[in-house]
Amino acid sequence: MDVELLKKMAGEYAAMKIKDGMVVGLGTGTTVKYTILKIGQLVKEGLDIIGIPTSKATENLARSLGIKIGSLSEYEYIDITVDGADEVDKKLNLIKGGGGALLREKMIAYYSKYEVIVVDERKLSEVLGSFPLPVEIVPFGYGRTLHTLSGFGCVPHLRLKDGRPFVTDNGNYIVDCKFDSIDNPSSLNIELNSVPGVVENGLFVGLSNEVIVGTKNGIKVIRSDV
Ligand code: 5RP
Repeated sequence: MDVELLKKMAGEYAAMKIKDGMVVGLGTGTTVKYTILKIGQLVKEGLDIIGIPTSKATENLARSLGIKIGSLSEYEYIDITVDGADEVDKKLNLIKGGGGALLREKMIAYYSKYEVIVVDERKLSEVLGSFPLPVEIVPFGYGRTLHTLSGFGCVPHLRLKDGRPFVTDNGNYIVDCKFDSIDNPSSLNIELNSVPGVVENGLFVGLSNEVIVGTKNGIKVIRSDV
């Protein structure tokens, strides 16, 4: 089955969890795009929600669909967030940031009562590390930070766009760190964030409640107790 169809299946399934009056975190990427399109359709049919976008791209998409937008500062918590992921392990730990939105995505996940992740089946993994871990760093001294990151046992690459450093919505750079495997995501998450110049990394540990997987045999839902 076409991967795009699997993404659509998972994305649209998640939209059914959105109810009237909710504050909804809107993720970033090509899978959650289907959730947002579906929410847009439901809004046209009368659904009343506030969307908190995880990126400028998602904000533009949501606004174009008539979804009301709020900011994270305005709300004490978010009822539910739907977002994508680049890799998911059996404990529902994630690698995120393939689209470069990991900082806002992680903040919004942190303040969400319920975090739903939508993926196609290719993203499931026994141990994280197949996907290079995105790390958001400040531009100042980025060469030194890159070198320090290599000390964590990975091969770091500064992400480029059109031959220049890719710049996030927060004005920072992204380093994609290729590990052989990430055996202890929880400690790596803490250690990476203790490097001066690192703003945030794409390891989401204990932040997801449910993963909706589009598979060739239909939808598979995996829940955690976090
Ligand atoms: C953006 C992300 C995305 O959620 C992640 O890259 C998955 O995207 P896609 O659904 O397009 O594969 O973390 O920063």
